[in-house]
Amino acid sequence: MPLKPAITIDRADRRVSIDVHDPDFYRSPSTTYAEIHAQCPAFYWSEREQWYFAGYDQVNALLRDRRFGRQILHVATREELGMPAPKPHLKAFDALEEHSLLELEPPAHTRLRTLVNRAFVSRQIEQLRPDIERLAHAVIDGFERDGEVELLKTYAETIPVTIIARMLGIPVEAAPDLLDWSHRMVRMYVFNPSHETELDANQASADFADYLRTVIAEKRRNPADDLLTHMITSEKDGERLSEAELVSTAALLLNAGHEATVHQIGNAVHTILQTGHASADLFATESATALTIEECLRFAAPLHIFQRYALSDIELDDGISLRKGDKIGLLLGAANVDPRKFIDPNRFNPKRDEGANVSFGAGLHFCIGAPLARLELNLSLPILFQRLPGMRLKHEPEVRDSFHFHGLERLDVVW
Ligand code: HEM
Repeated sequence: MPLKPAITIDRADRRVSIDVHDPDFYRSPSTTYAEIHAQCPAFYWSEREQWYFAGYDQVNALLRDRRFGRQILHVATREELGMPAPKPHLKAFDALEEHSLLELEPPAHTRLRTLVNRAFVSRQIEQLRPDIERLAHAVIDGFERDGEVELLKTYAETIPVTIIARMLGIPVEAAPDLLDWSHRMVRMYVFNPSHETELDANQASADFADYLRTVIAEKRRNPADDLLTHMITSEKDGERLSEAELVSTAALLLNAGHEATVHQIGNAVHTILQTGHASADLFATESATALTIEECLRFAAPLHIFQRYALSDIELDDGISLRKGDKIGLLLGAANVDPRKFIDPNRFNPKRDEGANVSFGAGLHFCIGAPLARLELNLSLPILFQRLPGMRLKHEPEVRDSFHFHGLERLDVVW
């Protein structure tokens, strides 16, 4: 009997069924996306019971469409929407989400984003260049003579977590704890997390928040030249951030500041080694490097899916009707390989210059850390390939069984 395929498509009804745990899917989602683009780029995902969008233009437009939001409880109550009550065993996790920039809509979002934005604009971020370069070289010094290394833990993780901790003014010795709390929390973003995952994420949130409260108290006593002190002392319209807002924002920046970048570094190194492009060409100049990095972000993005709520009843152009409170899914990873936007999209072409990918989103929630992530990628990748010119894969790496964070289990390389 033939095995059930990872995807089945009923084109007439625009219904699609995808088994996200089928290795054929999670190892190479782009193959599935190609079928979706060919047959129905807007589709009702049977298992998820909601509409999803894969087309570049549509994803890009929906991310910017103010009729949709990441939050719904600012325009309707749980009772009106028939939403279940919050789960008591997720109290600490929900407390962090409640004031998270990523989960807010204007005006609360505007106020918080304005307060932290200044630290993340390109001009400010550019000053980190020498720090990131020094760090990348120091990490490579530590393993260069070994002739082999597991790159995710040693290099891809160390650079972003160290840099974001330094920016905020969190002691770098806390990095192992930060990584542990963050990994346990982001497991909540998979489809249908288990009860154990929820309990564990809640405990990690409680411990993370306790830790941040002690660091904030210390900064209040001894202000320093760092982002956390800036957040404590800044005012917008005569108002300061509350303790709960400070804790949420610091936790979000620390988590978002490394989770995606780690996998983007891993996916990029893997792609370059697998496709056999000469690194001397890819990183010949700053502009060649920038094009290479953008192609890595498009071709091997770490984050494939984000959701939005319909904030009112909405009729979309293609005959899709949504009720207030309905969720929709935006497939960033699929939009990046839309053949209507990119020529031969499933080919890694570092000379491609066909417009922006949507790996950092778009609109109101566009990634605040994009200039930082881009700088880290534009420095850490060329430095790695210049220092280890003979680098190659030790064996083909295993891709994680995770749709939300598309990345590798580990990345073993030799030289
Ligand atoms: C390659 C690395 C990264 C990728 C692919 C990425 C991707 C994204 C995407 C797609 C969003 C928008 C989510 C949505 O629209 O629902 C987002 C938001 C965000 N990202 Fe990133 N990100 C990366 C690195 C970073 C870094 C280094 C930081 C450090 C501060 C960061 C902080 C944030 C924050 C705070 C938000 C929420 C912004 C808001 O809601 O206004 N990200 N990111």
